[in-house]
Amino acid sequence: MAAASKSFSGLLVHFIFVVLFVFSPVNAQLKVGFYSKTCPQAEAIVKEVIDGVLSVAPSLAGPLLRMHFHDCFVRGCDGSVLLNSSSHQAEKDAFPNLTLRGYQVIDRVKSALEKACPGVVSCADIVAIVARDVTVASKGLRWEVETGRRDGLVSNSTETFTNLIAPDSNITTIITRFQAKGLSVKDAVVLSGSHTIGTSHCSSFNSRLYNFTGKGINNDSDPTLDSAYTEALKIKCKPGDQNSLVEMDPGSFRTFDTHYYTLVSKRRGLFQSDAALLDNSVTKAYVELQAATKGSTFLKDFGMSMVKMGRVGVLTGTAGEIRKVCSKIN
Ligand code: HEM
Ligand SMILES: *[C@@H]1O[C@H](CO)[C@@H](O)[C@H](O)[C@H]1NC(C)=O
Ligand SMILES: *[C@@H]1O[C@H](CO)[C@@H](O)[C@H](O)[C@H]1NC(C)=O
Ligand SMILES: *[C@@H]1O[C@H](CO)[C@@H](O)[C@H](O)[C@H]1NC(C)=O
Ligand SMILES: *[C@@H]1O[C@H](CO)[C@@H](O)[C@H](O)[C@H]1NC(C)=O
Ligand SMILES: *[C@@H]1O[C@H](CO)[C@@H](O)[C@H](O)[C@H]1NC(C)=O
Ligand SMILES: *[C@@H]1O[C@H](CO)[C@@H](O)[C@H](O)[C@H]1NC(C)=O
Repeated sequence: MAAASKSFSGLLVHFIFVVLFVFSPVNAQLKVGFYSKTCPQAEAIVKEVIDGVLSVAPSLAGPLLRMHFHDCFVRGCDGSVLLNSSSHQAEKDAFPNLTLRGYQVIDRVKSALEKACPGVVSCADIVAIVARDVTVASKGLRWEVETGRRDGLVSNSTETFTNLIAPDSNITTIITRFQAKGLSVKDAVVLSGSHTIGTSHCSSFNSRLYNFTGKGINNDSDPTLDSAYTEALKIKCKPGDQNSLVEMDPGSFRTFDTHYYTLVSKRRGLFQSDAALLDNSVTKAYVELQAATKGSTFLKDFGMSMVKMGRVGVLTGTAGEIRKVCSKIN
């Protein structure tokens, strides 16, 4: 009996150890309202700056949402995407930055926060809150952002290639890269729904129009792309055009609606990675359900997947630092 209870308490101690030390550091100190005592007006300040910026530059909503994804997938959500290159090339200057922009907006938010509460709010948290606020400003559904992230000290361009996801990726690669961050197949299809807002450069899908097999023959387009849509895109993106911009959800590219799934289900997803969501039974079922039900659950699902993405590889407690300027370590 004594031996049994001893081994039971041993098991209990082991269990508590596992719970405390294995599971919790992942997001031990991330919580909704992390700044409620140290900078209670933090989220209101972010929202005020963002609403001001979007009122004059609404096209920044897309890149500012995308920035959180690029931050979280490379070294975790630690603001490393914001750092300038130093002795070596930073993430920002790597090819897969794929024209990320809006860095000055983050700087503007940071200045406002430094004025109100110096040295308190991390750049990584700013990126996370901004991603939520631009979604809400685009008529998406609000979610509560967990905060308490700290800023990383390293940004390395090489790491973008193995962690971010190229637009010509197949479903296997997409799922593998999400799972490498502890995110599910469902998160992959839900978060891809952010392509309901924003624009893309022709360079991100030009090969689907003109050079799909790589043989460079005429009219070598991706057979999985709706042919009428292919022709319409060819008018916007001439062969070799890298820089023109195309609306990713034509007609409502500034509204965070559920129309993305209708497009994908009609083989009008812009990237191969969008089309690839029809190649897996789970992602396909999600696309078809949202398309058939006008996105009955998407807006709510999106907030939940964003919270999960926001926990990826975060630094908390005393790790990292709170940067004074987001493009540079202290
Ligand atoms: C499944 C993997 C994904 C791939 C392959 C992918 C790829 C891309 C590409 C190539 C662009 C266009 C960039 C350009 O040419 O300017 C883009 C835009 C965008 N992506 Fe994704 N993306 C993925 C997932 C995500 C996720 C998880 C989010 C956010 C949670 C996101 C948010 C956005 C937004 C908002 C834009 C519009 C940016 C703008 O308006 O400038 N994407 N994405
Ligand atoms: C993205 O990387 C390229 C180099 O590949 C660089 O020229 C460009 O300035 C970078 N874009 C941003 C916004 O940092
Ligand atoms: C950047 O990352 C690559 C790949 O992990 C590594 O080989 C390289 O040493 C890193 N560069 C720096 C300056 O840390
Ligand atoms: C998916 O893409 C990867 C990387 O390009 C490739 O190695 C793999 O064979 C592809 N898988 C399928 C099923 O096409
Ligand atoms: C088509 O793709 C192939 C293989 O990727 C490449 O070698 C060729 O230069 C491309 N042709 C054009 C016109 O872009
Ligand atoms: C190119 O292919 C599309 C279908 O993908 C077809 O509708 C169109 O007529 C073709 N154009 C030429 C010039 O062959
Ligand atoms: C980082 O680079 C941007 C763009 O080149 C520049 O405006 C900014 O001042 C730089 N930040 C620092 C701390 O030098």
